[in-house]
Amino acid sequence: MVLKISLIVLISGIHDLVVSGNFTNSRSRARVRSGFEDFKEMLLWSDVFVDKSLFIRDVLEELAKVVVVVRPRNWGKTTNMAMLRRFFETEISSDGAPIAEEARINYRLFQGGAVDLGVDGRHVFKTLKITNHSKAMKHMGKYPVISVSFKPIKGYGYARILNVLKVTLMQLFRTHGYLHYSLHGEEKARFERYLVADLTEHDVRSGISFLITLLHKRWNKNVVLLIDDYDTPIISSYWELMEKEKELKGVIRLFRDIFAFSVNSPFVHKCVVTGLVLFEQANPFKRANVSVAQYSLHSEKFTEHFGFTEPEVDELLARCPTSMPAAEIKHYYNGFAWGKHNLFNPHSIMKCLVHDGQLDQYWLDSASSLTIDVRVSKGPMVEDLHHLQNKGLIVDRIYEEINFMEIFGGFRDMWYSLLVMAGYLDFAEDVDETGEYCHLVWIPNQEIKDKFVPKVFKWWLMNDGDCMISINM
Ligand SMILES: *[C@@H]1O[C@H](CO)[C@@H](O)[C@H](O)[C@H]1NC(C)=O
Ligand SMILES: *[C@@H]1O[C@H](CO)[C@@H](O)[C@H](O)[C@H]1NC(C)=O
Ligand SMILES: *[C@@H]1O[C@H](CO)[C@@H](O)[C@H](O)[C@H]1NC(C)=O
Repeated sequence: MVLKISLIVLISGIHDLVVSGNFTNSRSRARVRSGFEDFKEMLLWSDVFVDKSLFIRDVLEELAKVVVVVRPRNWGKTTNMAMLRRFFETEISSDGAPIAEEARINYRLFQGGAVDLGVDGRHVFKTLKITNHSKAMKHMGKYPVISVSFKPIKGYGYARILNVLKVTLMQLFRTHGYLHYSLHGEEKARFERYLVADLTEHDVRSGISFLITLLHKRWNKNVVLLIDDYDTPIISSYWELMEKEKELKGVIRLFRDIFAFSVNSPFVHKCVVTGLVLFEQANPFKRANVSVAQYSLHSEKFTEHFGFTEPEVDELLARCPTSMPAAEIKHYYNGFAWGKHNLFNPHSIMKCLVHDGQLDQYWLDSASSLTIDVRVSKGPMVEDLHHLQNKGLIVDRIYEEINFMEIFGGFRDMWYSLLVMAGYLDFAEDVDETGEYCHLVWIPNQEIKDKFVPKVFKWWLMNDGDCMISINM
């Protein structure tokens, strides 16, 4: 008899990927499929999965109304947001009617239990860790949820950003299209304009807050608001509009208004925002009138919910043996010391399992939708690289909030701060030889070390003194 275990695991991150393997005997070539942005699909088609559901508990216990968490690309942000949506949302049919309790699926995603998949047979969900936290479980299925990603909103100018925002709002309103049935008069007319993206600038600024109001009115409940990749439009604008200060300021103001209108609404229960960086100058939450807690790689909080911890990696490696010894895989990808944890890049680990343990630069090679070019002085940069590839490099400070103008202006510490936030370098507090407080930065693991200069930087020489470096965010 052939022992057959079908293995489907999800790689968390912006480009969610699903891997399915047919582990006849102990192993065989695994297949890769892509496209599961949905937490339900992921659990449905997976036997191996890293349970990050305690993120939900920590979000609920957070005192601030708005929680902003930034992590590098492909570190599990989108997957976690998909999980939050499934947890908080009240399940309704497409015409807006609440679904009978026994027909709800979200409940089973967390509580566990069998579902009938018709021709595909039955699937038994596992019970997730969050179910042991009764206080958090009281919030399951209790809220209307608005879930939106700003990832497609790229800055090739103010007008273009505005247009993409219109389309984003149109799609968002269409997913809540059932609200249309219960509206009248002025409100109905306004709602209809969102459905066809026939919008003024003011409509764009106030769109999310309008939807919050409508959802609150329909359900008599406050709304959970989830915004993924909140910073894509701003980062890309810095790059595209570097020399058009007025236009850049316009974009920053636009997003300040959108966030202020949204999170200042009295009908928001909780707002969770994810992205790549925090901003110093361009912080879009500046006009928020509610408490905003921002968590970067400098914070201890939430670190274990993004990426895999060492025990999680050990378990994965034990459950999915490959032809590479587990210790070698761990050595190759080891090493982001964020908070109190030693974290592994989830994208690299999963891809490595799919490829039967073959060690490669999966994360470095993964698609990135944002690239930033920076001009640096070649001489000092060559010296820095030498230190980085050896014991590490001392800098005055790794900043938690990024100032892009300072990066373009050649401020070295800010440039290394960006490389840390983008996931290429790790950092820790240190003291220099004069006893001054400083930071040490280094290349965290073999995956990055192997290809640091050619792949991370993709730099080219301009003239004797300078070179341009482009980094993928
Ligand atoms: C798994 O492998 C077995 C034996 O090679 C094959 O018969 C079966 O069709 C495969 N299943 C899938 C889902 O690929
Ligand atoms: C819940 O807690 C119990 C007791 O600590 C533990 O045995 C069990 O595995 C936990 N359940 C989940 C789903 O984590
Ligand atoms: C912020 O809140 C204060 C007090 O609740 C209020 O007076 C003020 O108008 C609010 N500002 C904005 C921009 O919402």
